[in-house]
Amino acid sequence: MNIVILSKGRANYSTRRLKEEAISRGHEVRILNYARCYVTIERSNPVVRYEGKEVTDVDVVIPRIAASLTKYGSSIVRQFEMQNVFTTASSIAIVRSRDKLRSMQLFAKAGVGIPKTVFAREASDLDDVLDQVGGAPVIIKVARGTHGNGVVLAETRKAAKAVMQAFYVEGVNFLVQEFIAESAGTDIRALVVNGKVVASIQRQSLDDDFRANTHQGGVGKTVKLTDEERKTAQKAAKAMGLAVCGVDMMRSERGPLVLEVNSSASLKTPELVTGRNVAGAILDYIEQNAKGKRRRDRVGA
Ligand SMILES: Nc1ncnc2c1ncn2[C@@H]1O[C@H](COP(=O)(O)OP(=O)(O)O)[C@@H](O)[C@H]1O
Ligand SMILES: [Mg+2]
Repeated sequence: MNIVILSKGRANYSTRRLKEEAISRGHEVRILNYARCYVTIERSNPVVRYEGKEVTDVDVVIPRIAASLTKYGSSIVRQFEMQNVFTTASSIAIVRSRDKLRSMQLFAKAGVGIPKTVFAREASDLDDVLDQVGGAPVIIKVARGTHGNGVVLAETRKAAKAVMQAFYVEGVNFLVQEFIAESAGTDIRALVVNGKVVASIQRQSLDDDFRANTHQGGVGKTVKLTDEERKTAQKAAKAMGLAVCGVDMMRSERGPLVLEVNSSASLKTPELVTGRNVAGAILDYIEQNAKGKRRRDRVGA
């Protein structure tokens, strides 16, 4: 098959592994920097162009879209969808998963455990907002943050109100969340491919940061999931409409609580730490599904 990896970094571990795995199975692979792709739109002729040429004969795209370029990157993916090209992540699911509020609403509806979350606009009833999530300490996070940036732990009611007021003034949408003290500084990432967990790691912050993101200096180690955790990861992936993704969860006294689902989860730590062939699992999924009928997105939000 002719596979296109949409990625800004051809030296990036995940991009390299996907390419290597695809080539070893006899596929043709092109890596296109989606930030430099452009599309021409006219009646019945959806075209993607790159370096002055039309991109043709594509069977599969593997989007690796950075959070900072969600809108542009997903529109390139959408253009391939307009050509009926198979994608490992639909444009609509990428956009959906990048919105923390929308994700929380969908997880809750699907019966996935989440930290109790409040979304509010006016600064009228900050005390009730805080009471709803059990009072301070609370987590306040901007609706579109990534890599742990924009996630704040407010230790006191006073600090929480100050942070919320600052966000209101700046017009930033944010969520207020119950602080899961039991697992502060650690979280679990489960990589789900085609409805199955193929690798899982536990991430631990190195200093006393409550955020476990490896971008904040956290480290990963292999972890065995409970049945409940595995089912939760599968359910969360399904709720987002993503066949390939990384599900972030925290262990709590009332079971696993999902924080977010990443449509372009890194393969690096999960592969290196667990020894699992995640890229191989993604290629298996492609080989089994790319030729069949396109699955429609059924999430509905
Ligand atoms: N409700 C919470 N309680 C305790 N820790 C949290 C909570 N929400 C997030 N964290 C910590 O902060 C990190 C980043 O939060 P997350 O929602 O995943 O945002 P990002 O998209 O920036 O990674 C998590 O990996 C976790 O370690
Ligand atoms: Mg995260």
